[in-house]
Amino acid sequence: MDYFKYKKNQLFCEGVPVERIARRVGSPVYIYSAQTILTHWRRLKAAFQPARLSARQADQPLIGYSLKANSNLAVCNLLQRAGSGFEVVSGGELYRLLKIGVPGEKIIFGGIAKTESEIKLGLKSGVLIFNVETKDEILLINRVAGRLKKIAPVAIRLNPEVTPATHLYLITGQKGNKFGFYLNDAEKLMREINSLPSIRLVGLHMHIGSQITRVAPYRNALKRVVLFIEKCRGLGHRIEWLDIGGGFGIHYRGDEARPARDFARVLLPWIKKTGCRLIVEPGRFIVGNAGILVTKVLSVKKSGRKNFVICDAGMNVLIRPTLYGAHHKISPIKRRSDRPSIVADIVGPICESGDFFAKKRRIQSVQPGEYLSVFSAGAYGFTMSSNYNSRPRPAEVLVDGSRYQVVRQAETYHDLVRLERYH
Ligand code: LLP
Repeated sequence: MDYFKYKKNQLFCEGVPVERIARRVGSPVYIYSAQTILTHWRRLKAAFQPARLSARQADQPLIGYSLKANSNLAVCNLLQRAGSGFEVVSGGELYRLLKIGVPGEKIIFGGIAKTESEIKLGLKSGVLIFNVETKDEILLINRVAGRLKKIAPVAIRLNPEVTPATHLYLITGQKGNKFGFYLNDAEKLMREINSLPSIRLVGLHMHIGSQITRVAPYRNALKRVVLFIEKCRGLGHRIEWLDIGGGFGIHYRGDEARPARDFARVLLPWIKKTGCRLIVEPGRFIVGNAGILVTKVLSVKKSGRKNFVICDAGMNVLIRPTLYGAHHKISPIKRRSDRPSIVADIVGPICESGDFFAKKRRIQSVQPGEYLSVFSAGAYGFTMSSNYNSRPRPAEVLVDGSRYQVVRQAETYHDLVRLERYH
């Protein structure tokens, strides 16, 4: 589901022609649809709503939108106004939320390793929960909280040892990777935490991976976590929160994504058994299909029998195809049925052979100066971009109905060197 549609062969984002934005703001540019973001957020919230313990808990389940997918302040603010919570994994992400006035009680501070100053910032901001996955960090949080005369609310991330079908780099809850505690180790830890005066164990957390389009791995993981809650309670810990992570997949090729209610239907009975308040941490599900990357064709070249469409954006702007072999649909923002199609590699201007958006892709035979849309680029697009080859990062635009706003300006050459000194 999204609000990017062709009308008379011209691509619109909600009520605005994409070409108008590209011409006025410049290329490349990320364009996000506010209504798509809100629709996905509401669907997820509604799907898991039966997890509420009582009708009075209007803020439940807590949707902890994962900033790593798209941390633009305007996107965060849109979600804040909708009533969202947030999940952050660094001081920088936390800073973004504090900047727009998100209260600590709406923030989950996760991530596999936090520095002392990040922990301090989290404690001072009164975050709802620290999700923790190493013993060293638990000890550090205990020390820092003790010094600040605070009690830190902590959830332990479990590694439930399941292997969802997704890209190898996107699996986080299987044996042998760095995330979470194995259940045996966690049990020992539960006993030790009892002796830490400035830690309160309030929850359990899991996150099994990303771009997962099947329910079974969640169910298998959740079962293990739910059984474990009983053990924790037996050891005297009041487990109030259950955080089942994010990872819900979206459409990249066709309609491979599952609706949120499919996940909810299977998971809710297990969640309800726990009597816990629920947290979900979606990133991609909320913003992935809500964004496109618009890039201009700079040249079209034939090398032997091979066609290359060379664009003004490259792997520095959207790294997913080259890093994960990810598929993103690509088409001209003005379609014309009267021209032939070609099979081409769609590539960027970066000096690397790995700099591509698509390989052997069928596309209308486009000309230099035309704009292409790279779809499903709202998650892990801009946030993973870089200045490689000293290329300024592109602008970001948020569309709402018939209006649009530049919510991050394109960087300038001056921005590239602003922090450097040479004499
Ligand atoms: N919670 C935790 C603890 C996570 O590690 C992540 C993502 C999320 C929530 C949100 O996951 P989501 O709902 O967006 O799948 N760069 C990769 C994705 C990496 C995901 C990392 N962790 C990509 O472009 O596909």
